[in-house]
Amino acid sequence: MLAKITNLYDYIQKYHNSIQHPEDFWAGIAEQFFWRKKWDKNKVVEWDFDGPDVKWFVNGKLNITENIFERNLYTHGNKTAIIWEPNDPNEKGRRISYKELYEMVCKFSNALEQQGVKKGDRIIIYMPMIPEAAVAMLACARVGAVHSVVFAGFSAASLADRINDCKAKVVITSDGNFRGSKSIPVKFVVDEALDFTESVETVIVCKRTGDNVNMVSGRDIWWNDIVDPAGSKHEAAEMDSEDMLFILYTSGSTGKPKGVVHSCGGYMVYTAYSFCNVFQYSADDIYWCTADIGWITGHSYIIYGPLLVGATTVMFEGIPTYPHPGRFWEIVDKYNVNQFYTAPTAIRALQAYGQEPIKSFVMESLKVIGTVGEPINEEAWHWYHAHVGKGKCPIVDTWWQTETGGILISPIAGITPTKPSYATLPLPGIQPVIVDKDGNELKGNSVEGNLCIKYPWPAMIRTTYGDHDRCRETYFSKYGIYFTGDSARRDEDGYYRIMGRVDDVINVSGHRMGTAEIENAINEHPRVVESAVIGFPHDIKGEAIYAFTICDMDGRTRRNLTNEIKATVGKIIGPIAKPDIVQIVPGLPKTRSGKIMRRILKKIAVDDTDDLGDISTLLNPEVVQEIIDERELVSDDNRPLDKK
Ligand code: WTA
Repeated sequence: MLAKITNLYDYIQKYHNSIQHPEDFWAGIAEQFFWRKKWDKNKVVEWDFDGPDVKWFVNGKLNITENIFERNLYTHGNKTAIIWEPNDPNEKGRRISYKELYEMVCKFSNALEQQGVKKGDRIIIYMPMIPEAAVAMLACARVGAVHSVVFAGFSAASLADRINDCKAKVVITSDGNFRGSKSIPVKFVVDEALDFTESVETVIVCKRTGDNVNMVSGRDIWWNDIVDPAGSKHEAAEMDSEDMLFILYTSGSTGKPKGVVHSCGGYMVYTAYSFCNVFQYSADDIYWCTADIGWITGHSYIIYGPLLVGATTVMFEGIPTYPHPGRFWEIVDKYNVNQFYTAPTAIRALQAYGQEPIKSFVMESLKVIGTVGEPINEEAWHWYHAHVGKGKCPIVDTWWQTETGGILISPIAGITPTKPSYATLPLPGIQPVIVDKDGNELKGNSVEGNLCIKYPWPAMIRTTYGDHDRCRETYFSKYGIYFTGDSARRDEDGYYRIMGRVDDVINVSGHRMGTAEIENAINEHPRVVESAVIGFPHDIKGEAIYAFTICDMDGRTRRNLTNEIKATVGKIIGPIAKPDIVQIVPGLPKTRSGKIMRRILKKIAVDDTDDLGDISTLLNPEVVQEIIDERELVSDDNRPLDKK
């Protein structure tokens, strides 16, 4: 366990110290880990944001799994590392101790090596939320292979894109995936994807649902067939601090998802440090984060952060509403969860069921509750505080990103103040700045603008896989410092409130989606001529997707065609990217240079059309009224919830 911040004064002191002497500050934390070889003297960090070229703990040698296991086994080998709760409450859960997890990881590491996996190879993990998914990630880290977890709700085409981008050699998957009342044929999706890829030599299939699957001989093998005979001792590969630990794909403002690269040393130090501080985790606590391992939250705060500090982490296979909308609260009581971390969209969805599903659970064990992924509105914040935290648990509204690797702005539970809908203050070592559109830093309080970070932190993105220029252009060239893509306000007390994305990224239920990516998918439908996608406010999802499309109807009804378009997006990206509304339009409002005026479409989407500004300079101003008139044709069940 790392030394934690103990009180407000301690936070203020540590924060100041971390800004004045960042290298000493981070060295002091990094020294609490096990390094096979310590970083070079006076080389805690080397950086240049123009490259960008950022290195932490230069020439340090380590393996992150040695820090999870070997460092801790003597002290808490018998402690539970993972509590696994299945989708179906009638199925027995699993409790896996650190020793048992260690053995599972060693065996799978040996099995991977026997399959020819070597340091640096890329491995795709496309799995349900079962302990074997954690084992797969940790075994990759142990042998030095680079994992790239793909959320198991993504389509075959999305999976194929990711496999091709990183030229993965192995895919680890399962037969099926239980999600609520459904069983998703995960292996079938992998088979479909592999028709469009060439790099994959081996597919390892873990049995979960018992569904029939097609095993391709010479390529597909069962998890147990390679793990059962494997030895239970394994010597971890020695990694350089800056070697790649994993790639995680995320959406950006262009059509193609980018592979965010994180490295071993810095990510280890930062996820562990931020985990135990933000949540104020104590040795006997039970911690539960409801994210999926397919997202960064699952990486940093179900697996790496908690396991690095020897925590007990709950892993839940199912969904919040199955078999009933009190499922989360039932699990909190079942395991006496102390720290609970979820997304605003889940809170709002459960809030919509009223008090009934929650009132039969006492939830006395809870000490800290957290949120992540999107701004939390005040109403949901108060509901969460009153009914989940029973008025006594601090809410940690944690702001961060796939690219940041760990939480950057958040209350420290019970130590720094909270404020509804504010992520509040930066963690030690984090130097946020707000800039205007020209990049001038807005100093002082009560300012609003684009959120940037001006000094490196250990878990920051190192590159976008295979395309370093893209990393520079997306995050660094605009302002010369790290640009988050979010806008933020620093209020009169110096607290940060994240306002939302300023690029073409929509945040649907906490999932990032590029508008260009969705447009590309829509345009794959043979009857679609052109499309424009925007986000609009949604009561539960935060934002929902509205697609305006120009189509050649070819005798179809609007309803049939819009359903087909939604299905196309589901097939190409995955169900999470399906537009909530598809409106077929005669044209799209464009400037004379051909740029789609999304600002106008956004107003039409929320029926706020009284003041559209000057549209006379558009190439086709007449189309605006036609779109407004036809807005009525979008069926009522498709209307935005908070229509004006
Ligand atoms: C948004 C998730 C407001 C933000 C860890 C960011 C938030 C994007 C918050 C990253 C928060 C995340 N308050 N907005 N507490 N947390 N966001 O990469 O727009 O999936 O840029 O990482 O989510 O999403 P990502």
